[in-house]
Amino acid sequence: MLLVQITDTHIVAPGAMVYDRYDSAAGLRAAVARINTLPVRPELVLVTGDLTHHGQGAEYDHFLEIMSGLQVPWHAIPGNHDIRDPFLAAMAGHLGDTHLPGFGQFAVDAGPLRVIGLDTLHDGHHDGTFCAQRLAWLETALQETGPRPVVLAMHHPPFATGVRWMDVMNLDWASPLEALVARFPNVHAVLCGHVHRPISTRWAGTVARICPGTSYQVALDLAGPDPHLCADPAAIGLASWDGQRVITDVLPIDGDPIPLQLMQPETMAKLAAYADAHDGIIPKDVNNRVRRLSRDD
Ligand SMILES: [Fe+2]
Ligand SMILES: [Fe+2]
Repeated sequence: MLLVQITDTHIVAPGAMVYDRYDSAAGLRAAVARINTLPVRPELVLVTGDLTHHGQGAEYDHFLEIMSGLQVPWHAIPGNHDIRDPFLAAMAGHLGDTHLPGFGQFAVDAGPLRVIGLDTLHDGHHDGTFCAQRLAWLETALQETGPRPVVLAMHHPPFATGVRWMDVMNLDWASPLEALVARFPNVHAVLCGHVHRPISTRWAGTVARICPGTSYQVALDLAGPDPHLCADPAAIGLASWDGQRVITDVLPIDGDPIPLQLMQPETMAKLAAYADAHDGIIPKDVNNRVRRLSRDD
Protein backbone atom coordinates (compact mmCIF):
# COMPACT_ATOMS: atom_id res chain seq x y z
CA MET A 1 0.00 0.00 0.00
CA LEU A 2 1.56 3.20 -1.25
CA LEU A 3 1.23 6.82 -0.16
CA VAL A 4 2.86 9.57 -2.20
CA GLN A 5 3.96 12.92 -0.82
CA ILE A 6 4.18 16.11 -2.85
CA THR A 7 5.53 19.11 -1.02
CA ASP A 8 6.48 22.77 -1.43
CA THR A 9 4.92 23.25 -4.81
CA HIS A 10 5.06 27.08 -4.41
CA ILE A 11 2.63 27.74 -7.22
CA VAL A 12 2.39 31.33 -8.48
CA ALA A 13 0.09 32.94 -11.03
CA PRO A 14 0.11 31.43 -14.54
CA GLY A 15 3.18 32.59 -16.47
CA ALA A 16 5.03 33.84 -13.37
CA MET A 17 8.23 32.35 -11.95
CA VAL A 18 9.30 31.89 -8.31
CA TYR A 19 12.25 34.16 -7.47
CA ASP A 20 12.24 35.09 -11.20
CA ARG A 21 13.88 31.74 -11.86
CA TYR A 22 11.84 28.66 -11.00
CA ASP A 23 8.89 27.41 -13.07
CA SER A 24 7.01 25.87 -10.16
CA ALA A 25 3.97 25.05 -12.31
CA ALA A 26 6.15 22.92 -14.59
CA GLY A 27 7.52 21.17 -11.51
CA LEU A 28 4.06 20.28 -10.23
CA ARG A 29 2.85 19.19 -13.67
CA ALA A 30 5.87 16.86 -13.91
CA ALA A 31 5.13 15.47 -10.43
CA VAL A 32 1.51 14.80 -11.39
CA ALA A 33 2.62 13.01 -14.56
CA ARG A 34 5.17 10.97 -12.59
CA ILE A 35 2.54 9.83 -10.09
CA ASN A 36 0.00 9.01 -12.82
CA THR A 37 2.53 6.68 -14.48
CA LEU A 38 3.88 4.91 -11.39
CA PRO A 39 3.68 1.12 -11.84
CA VAL A 40 1.61 0.91 -8.63
CA ARG A 41 -1.41 3.14 -8.12
CA PRO A 42 -1.04 5.04 -4.83
CA GLU A 43 -3.88 4.93 -2.34
CA LEU A 44 -3.52 8.62 -1.55
CA VAL A 45 -1.39 11.67 -2.33
CA LEU A 46 -0.54 14.08 0.48
CA VAL A 47 0.44 17.66 -0.33
CA THR A 48 2.40 18.86 2.69
CA GLY A 49 2.25 22.63 2.50
CA ASP A 50 3.55 25.70 0.71
CA LEU A 51 1.05 24.90 -2.03
CA THR A 52 1.39 28.50 -3.20
CA HIS A 53 4.17 31.06 -2.89
CA HIS A 54 2.07 34.04 -1.79
CA GLY A 55 -1.22 32.50 -0.60
CA GLN A 56 -3.27 34.36 -3.22
CA GLY A 57 -6.58 33.09 -4.60
CA ALA A 58 -5.33 33.06 -8.19
CA GLU A 59 -2.41 30.90 -7.10
CA TYR A 60 -4.76 28.39 -5.48
CA ASP A 61 -6.84 28.35 -8.67
CA HIS A 62 -3.67 27.60 -10.64
CA PHE A 63 -2.70 24.87 -8.16
CA LEU A 64 -6.13 23.24 -8.44
CA GLU A 65 -6.04 23.42 -12.23
CA ILE A 66 -2.76 21.47 -12.31
CA MET A 67 -3.88 19.01 -9.62
CA SER A 68 -7.05 18.28 -11.59
CA GLY A 69 -4.84 16.10 -13.78
CA LEU A 70 -3.92 13.83 -10.88
CA GLN A 71 -5.62 10.44 -11.11
CA VAL A 72 -5.32 9.70 -7.37
CA PRO A 73 -7.32 11.18 -4.44
CA TRP A 74 -5.34 13.83 -2.63
CA HIS A 75 -5.40 15.84 0.58
CA ALA A 76 -3.49 18.95 1.59
CA ILE A 77 -2.20 20.76 4.66
CA PRO A 78 -0.91 24.36 4.74
CA GLY A 79 2.64 25.69 5.03
CA ASN A 80 4.08 29.07 5.95
CA HIS A 81 3.71 30.40 2.39
CA ASP A 82 -0.01 29.63 2.49
CA ILE A 83 -2.62 31.95 3.98
CA ARG A 84 -5.24 30.16 6.04
CA ASP A 85 -8.51 31.59 4.74
CA PRO A 86 -7.83 31.28 0.99
CA PHE A 87 -6.20 27.89 1.64
CA LEU A 88 -9.29 26.59 3.46
CA ALA A 89 -11.62 28.02 0.82
CA ALA A 90 -9.70 26.39 -2.04
CA MET A 91 -9.08 23.04 -0.28
CA ALA A 92 -12.63 22.46 0.95
CA GLY A 93 -12.84 19.15 -0.93
CA HIS A 94 -9.41 17.94 0.15
CA LEU A 95 -9.41 18.13 3.93
CA GLY A 96 -10.38 14.55 4.68
CA ASP A 97 -13.49 13.01 6.21
CA THR A 98 -12.69 14.40 9.68
CA HIS A 99 -11.10 17.79 10.05
CA LEU A 100 -10.66 20.46 12.69
CA PRO A 101 -12.92 23.40 11.76
CA GLY A 102 -10.93 26.53 10.98
CA PHE A 103 -7.70 24.63 10.38
CA GLY A 104 -6.14 22.54 7.62
CA GLN A 105 -5.94 19.55 9.94
CA PHE A 106 -7.60 16.24 9.11
CA ALA A 107 -7.72 12.47 9.53
CA VAL A 108 -8.48 10.07 6.69
CA ASP A 109 -8.24 6.35 6.00
CA ALA A 110 -5.78 5.05 3.41
CA GLY A 111 -6.03 1.26 3.23
CA PRO A 112 -5.07 -0.04 6.67
CA LEU A 113 -3.46 3.28 7.64
CA ARG A 114 -4.95 6.25 9.40
CA VAL A 115 -3.35 9.34 7.88
CA ILE A 116 -3.47 12.47 10.01
CA GLY A 117 -2.52 15.82 8.49
CA LEU A 118 -1.46 18.54 10.94
CA ASP A 119 -1.72 22.29 10.53
CA THR A 120 1.51 23.94 11.75
CA LEU A 121 0.79 27.31 10.15
CA HIS A 122 1.63 30.27 12.38
CA ASP A 123 -0.32 33.06 10.69
CA GLY A 124 1.97 35.77 9.35
CA HIS A 125 5.18 33.99 10.36
CA HIS A 126 7.61 31.55 8.78
CA ASP A 127 8.09 29.42 11.89
CA GLY A 128 5.71 26.63 12.84
CA THR A 129 3.33 26.42 15.76
CA PHE A 130 0.93 23.93 17.27
CA CYS A 131 -1.61 25.43 19.66
CA ALA A 132 -3.54 23.72 22.45
CA GLN A 133 -6.64 23.40 20.24
CA ARG A 134 -4.76 21.54 17.52
CA LEU A 135 -2.95 19.43 20.11
CA ALA A 136 -6.19 18.39 21.83
CA TRP A 137 -7.78 17.49 18.48
CA LEU A 138 -4.76 15.33 17.61
CA GLU A 139 -4.87 13.55 20.96
CA THR A 140 -8.52 12.66 20.38
CA ALA A 141 -7.81 11.56 16.80
CA LEU A 142 -4.99 9.27 17.96
CA GLN A 143 -7.10 7.82 20.77
CA GLU A 144 -9.99 7.14 18.37
CA THR A 145 -7.65 5.41 15.92
CA GLY A 146 -6.82 2.71 18.46
CA PRO A 147 -3.95 0.39 17.55
CA ARG A 148 -4.15 0.94 13.78
CA PRO A 149 -0.95 2.18 12.11
CA VAL A 150 -0.75 5.96 11.76
CA VAL A 151 1.17 8.24 9.42
CA LEU A 152 1.38 11.90 10.36
CA ALA A 153 1.96 14.69 7.85
CA MET A 154 3.02 18.23 8.73
CA HIS A 155 4.68 21.08 6.89
CA HIS A 156 7.25 22.26 9.43
CA PRO A 157 9.71 19.62 10.61
CA PRO A 158 9.51 19.35 14.39
CA PHE A 159 13.31 19.08 14.74
CA ALA A 160 16.44 21.10 13.92
CA THR A 161 17.68 19.97 10.52
CA GLY A 162 21.18 21.46 10.36
CA VAL A 163 20.07 23.91 7.69
CA ARG A 164 20.62 26.64 10.23
CA TRP A 165 19.23 29.66 8.42
CA MET A 166 15.93 27.78 8.27
CA ASP A 167 16.23 26.22 11.73
CA VAL A 168 16.49 29.62 13.43
CA MET A 169 13.02 30.43 12.07
CA ASN A 170 11.53 27.14 13.26
CA LEU A 171 12.57 26.37 16.86
CA ASP A 172 10.91 25.82 20.23
CA TRP A 173 7.33 25.03 19.29
CA ALA A 174 7.17 21.23 18.96
CA SER A 175 7.91 19.93 22.48
CA PRO A 176 4.24 19.38 23.47
CA LEU A 177 3.63 17.68 20.11
CA GLU A 178 6.67 15.46 20.62
CA ALA A 179 5.48 14.43 24.09
CA LEU A 180 2.05 13.52 22.71
CA VAL A 181 3.29 11.54 19.70
CA ALA A 182 5.76 9.64 21.90
CA ARG A 183 2.77 8.13 23.75
CA PHE A 184 1.54 6.43 20.54
CA PRO A 185 3.96 3.77 19.25
CA ASN A 186 1.58 3.05 16.37
CA VAL A 187 2.72 6.33 14.71
CA HIS A 188 5.04 4.81 12.12
CA ALA A 189 6.21 7.87 10.21
CA VAL A 190 6.00 11.67 10.13
CA LEU A 191 6.12 13.18 6.63
CA CYS A 192 7.33 16.80 6.56
CA GLY A 193 8.18 19.52 4.06
CA HIS A 194 9.40 23.11 4.38
CA VAL A 195 13.17 22.56 4.14
CA HIS A 196 13.19 21.46 0.47
CA ARG A 197 15.79 18.75 1.17
CA PRO A 198 15.71 14.97 1.89
CA ILE A 199 16.41 14.89 5.64
CA SER A 200 15.31 12.26 8.15
CA THR A 201 15.78 11.57 11.85
CA ARG A 202 14.38 9.72 14.83
CA TRP A 203 11.78 11.87 16.60
CA ALA A 204 9.26 11.10 19.34
CA GLY A 205 10.04 7.40 19.00
CA THR A 206 9.16 7.34 15.32
CA VAL A 207 10.79 8.37 12.02
CA ALA A 208 10.43 11.90 10.67
CA ARG A 209 11.29 12.54 7.03
CA ILE A 210 11.46 15.76 5.01
CA CYS A 211 10.82 15.45 1.28
CA PRO A 212 12.43 17.66 -1.40
CA GLY A 213 10.14 20.14 -3.10
CA THR A 214 8.74 20.00 -6.60
CA SER A 215 9.62 23.69 -7.12
CA TYR A 216 13.19 24.46 -5.99
CA GLN A 217 15.72 22.96 -3.58
CA VAL A 218 17.56 24.40 -0.57
CA ALA A 219 21.33 24.00 -0.36
CA LEU A 220 23.03 22.07 2.43
CA ASP A 221 24.38 24.43 5.07
CA LEU A 222 27.43 22.80 6.68
CA ALA A 223 29.68 25.81 7.28
CA GLY A 224 27.18 28.24 8.80
CA PRO A 225 23.88 30.01 8.25
CA ASP A 226 24.27 30.98 4.61
CA PRO A 227 21.00 30.98 2.64
CA HIS A 228 21.39 29.35 -0.75
CA LEU A 229 19.21 27.42 -3.13
CA CYS A 230 20.69 24.70 -5.33
CA ALA A 231 20.12 22.53 -8.39
CA ASP A 232 19.47 19.25 -6.53
CA PRO A 233 16.70 17.25 -8.23
CA ALA A 234 13.02 17.91 -7.59
CA ALA A 235 11.36 14.85 -6.13
CA ILE A 236 8.24 13.25 -4.71
CA GLY A 237 8.19 11.15 -1.56
CA LEU A 238 6.99 7.57 -1.26
CA ALA A 239 5.76 5.88 1.90
CA SER A 240 4.91 2.18 1.59
CA TRP A 241 3.13 0.12 4.23
CA ASP A 242 4.28 -3.52 4.11
CA GLY A 243 2.03 -4.78 6.91
CA GLN A 244 4.58 -4.14 9.63
CA ARG A 245 6.34 -0.86 8.93
CA VAL A 246 6.36 2.22 6.75
CA ILE A 247 9.24 2.36 4.29
CA THR A 248 10.01 5.82 2.93
CA ASP A 249 11.81 6.74 -0.24
CA VAL A 250 12.46 9.84 -2.32
CA LEU A 251 11.86 9.60 -6.06
CA PRO A 252 13.35 12.28 -8.34
CA ILE A 253 10.67 13.47 -10.74
CA ASP A 254 12.92 13.26 -13.79
CA GLY A 255 15.01 10.28 -14.78
CA ASP A 256 14.19 6.86 -16.14
CA PRO A 257 15.42 3.73 -14.36
CA ILE A 258 18.30 1.86 -15.99
CA PRO A 259 17.81 -1.94 -16.11
CA LEU A 260 20.44 -3.74 -14.05
CA GLN A 261 21.84 -7.00 -15.37
CA LEU A 262 22.51 -9.16 -12.32
CA MET A 263 25.42 -11.45 -13.05
CA GLN A 264 25.97 -13.33 -9.79
CA PRO A 265 24.56 -16.89 -10.22
CA GLU A 266 23.19 -17.05 -6.67
CA THR A 267 21.35 -13.73 -7.03
CA MET A 268 20.02 -14.74 -10.44
CA ALA A 269 18.75 -18.05 -9.07
CA LYS A 270 16.89 -16.31 -6.24
CA LEU A 271 15.37 -13.74 -8.55
CA ALA A 272 14.37 -16.42 -11.06
CA ALA A 273 12.65 -18.40 -8.30
CA TYR A 274 10.85 -15.27 -7.13
CA ALA A 275 9.84 -14.45 -10.70
CA ASP A 276 8.40 -17.96 -11.18
CA ALA A 277 6.48 -17.74 -7.91
CA HIS A 278 5.12 -14.27 -8.60
CA ASP A 279 4.39 -14.36 -12.31
CA GLY A 280 2.38 -11.31 -13.24
CA ILE A 281 3.32 -9.46 -10.07
CA ILE A 282 6.79 -8.32 -10.94
CA PRO A 283 7.35 -6.60 -14.30
CA LYS A 284 7.59 -8.91 -17.32
CA ASP A 285 10.93 -7.54 -18.45
CA VAL A 286 12.44 -8.64 -15.14
CA ASN A 287 11.28 -12.18 -15.85
CA ASN A 288 12.66 -11.98 -19.36
CA ARG A 289 16.00 -10.58 -18.25
CA VAL A 290 16.43 -13.20 -15.59
CA ARG A 291 15.45 -16.09 -17.86
CA ARG A 292 17.59 -14.81 -20.71
CA LEU A 293 20.57 -14.49 -18.41
CA SER A 294 19.91 -17.96 -17.01
CA ARG A 295 19.87 -19.46 -20.52
CA ASP A 296 22.97 -17.56 -21.55
CA ASP A 297 24.80 -18.81 -18.51
FE1 LIG B 1 8.58 25.77 0.91
FE1 LIG C 1 7.70 26.27 4.19
